[in-house]
Amino acid sequence: MIREILVYPNKTLKKKSLPVEKFDKELHSLLDDMYDTMSAKNGVGLAAIQIGVPLRALIINIPIEEQDGAQPKENTIEVINPEFIECSGSTKFQEGCLSVPGFYEDVSRYAQVKFKYYDRYGNEHLTDTNDFLAIAIQHEYDHLEGKLFIEKLSILKRKKFEKEWKKRNSKK
Ligand code: CO
Repeated sequence: MIREILVYPNKTLKKKSLPVEKFDKELHSLLDDMYDTMSAKNGVGLAAIQIGVPLRALIINIPIEEQDGAQPKENTIEVINPEFIECSGSTKFQEGCLSVPGFYEDVSRYAQVKFKYYDRYGNEHLTDTNDFLAIAIQHEYDHLEGKLFIEKLSILKRKKFEKEWKKRNSKK
């Protein structure tokens, strides 16, 4: 089921999410709804808090370029209660967010991350990555901490964003 995505400056997005304790049917339907919601908007990732659920659950689905950006459900990485083990290097990437629609800006992130997490059945996984997934997991993890990528911008860029955002939303 497609759910409503909370948009900046909705205060719920600032909430710190709590660990998932039950890997039950309710969690599974939450993750299914997150996939439906994310793929309907062609997003690359979504955290539960973005649909108003303050749980440490996020999904990532990197579109397949060779298939016109297809995002088959089986390619979804479901990440529950993630923890970073090791982060190194730095890289810059133009990020966007379904909670800040239509705005894109360069953000600095670690280039390589090693993190552990649980899947929907409660099995533990360890991933070490230096590709796009490394950027995506850092962006989505920030949502669990109540942070948006616009908070990582320089003061000048942030001011520019606020101005643009105000202007755009007053037109509606
Ligand atoms: Co986001």
